[in-house]
Amino acid sequence: MSVSQSKKGDFAAVRQAIKALLHQPEYDDGSAGPVLVRLAWHSSGTYDINTDTGGSNGAGMRYEYEGGDPANAGLQHARVFLEPVKEAHPWITYSDLWTLAGAVAIEEAGGPSISWQGGRTDFVDDTKILKNKIAGRLPDATQGAGHLRKVFYRMGFNDQEIVALSGAHTLGRCHGDRSGFEGPWVNNPTRFSNQYFKLLSTLEWKPKTLPSGVKQFMYYDEDTETELMMLPTDMALLADPGFEPWVRRYGEDKDLFFRDFAKVFSKLMELGIERDAEGRITNTDNELGGYLSAPKKANAPQYKKHAGDEGLPVAEASGLEEKNARYRARL
Ligand code: HEM
Repeated sequence: MSVSQSKKGDFAAVRQAIKALLHQPEYDDGSAGPVLVRLAWHSSGTYDINTDTGGSNGAGMRYEYEGGDPANAGLQHARVFLEPVKEAHPWITYSDLWTLAGAVAIEEAGGPSISWQGGRTDFVDDTKILKNKIAGRLPDATQGAGHLRKVFYRMGFNDQEIVALSGAHTLGRCHGDRSGFEGPWVNNPTRFSNQYFKLLSTLEWKPKTLPSGVKQFMYYDEDTETELMMLPTDMALLADPGFEPWVRRYGEDKDLFFRDFAKVFSKLMELGIERDAEGRITNTDNELGGYLSAPKKANAPQYKKHAGDEGLPVAEASGLEEKNARYRARL
C-alpha cells in the first residue's frame, strides 16, 4: 500500500483527487463523472426504510452478491477510476469515497453544490448484504410508474423527489453491454442541467426497438444529427399525473430543479445513516472498529469462465458477464 498523501479525515484532499480524475478523454463522452454519479446512487439506492437495511454505509458492492446484481453492470468502471484515489488516501472508506465522488462529479459538471458528510464504514464481509437480500432492490428501467413508486417509496422518497432524482439522467448515457439500452438522454451529457426535463416534456418521443429486442424511446435531433433516448421509466414520469407536473416545472425552472436536486441527492447519500449531534455515524455496524476502511475487493476475483482458466487476469466483477447475459435475455 502506498504512503498516504493526506491525513485521516482530510476530505478536501480527496475531493481534489476526485476532481483530477474526472477528465477521461478516452472514456465515453470524455468524463468519468456520470458513471461516478451512478455508483453513488446505486450504492445508496438499496435502502429499505421498513427494515432499515441497505444504503451507502458498508460499500456492499465490493462483494459479488451486490456488485454482481445485474442492475449494477458497468459500475466496475467507476470503482476502477476511483482506485488510485483510494491508494493515495487509503484511510478513506469505500462507502465515503463512492458517495463523495458522486457529489463532486455533480458539482464539477456544473450542478448544484451537494451537502455531503463522511463517516461511513465498510462492511468486513458480505453477511449483512446476504442476510438482508440487498440485491434486486434497484429500479428496472423496463417498468412503469407503479414500479418507480414501489422502489422509491421503499427508500422513503415522495413523487416530487422521484422526479427530481431522475433529473440526473441529464448526465451520461446508456450502454448496450451494460443495461442493454443505448445512447444519451441529452446532447451535452457531461454538463449538469435541467435539459433532461426540457427535452422529455417538449419533444416528440417515438418508440424504438433495438436490434437486441430492447425497447426504448428515441428522438432524432436534425441540428446536431444525434439520436437521443428515453427509458420506459423516463416516459412513465411524463405519463403519470403525480409525476408529470414536476417534470414540467423542473423543465421550466432550472434554479428550482437545482435546489430540489441538491436536497434530494444529499438525502439519498444519507439513507440508513444514523448520526449523533456531532455528525458521527452511530450505525451499529460501525461500532466495532470506528472509522475503518476495509481492504479493496480482490483485483482478480475467484471467477473462472472455463475450467483451466486459472492464472488468467480477470477484471473486477467479471462475474457480471453471465448474469448480464441472463438479464438482457429477459428484456
Ligand atoms: C428512476 C429510476 C431509474 C432507472 C430505471 C434508471 C436506469 C438507468 C439505466 C438503465 C441507465 C443506463 C446504464 C448503462 O447502460 O450504463 C442509467 C444510467 C444513469 N443513471 Fe439512472 N436510473 C434511474 C434513476 C437514477 C437516479 C436516481 C440517478 C441519480 C440520482 C441516476 C443516475 C444515472 C446516471 C448518471 C447514469 C449514466 C451513467 C453512465 O453514463 O455510465 N439514475 N440509469
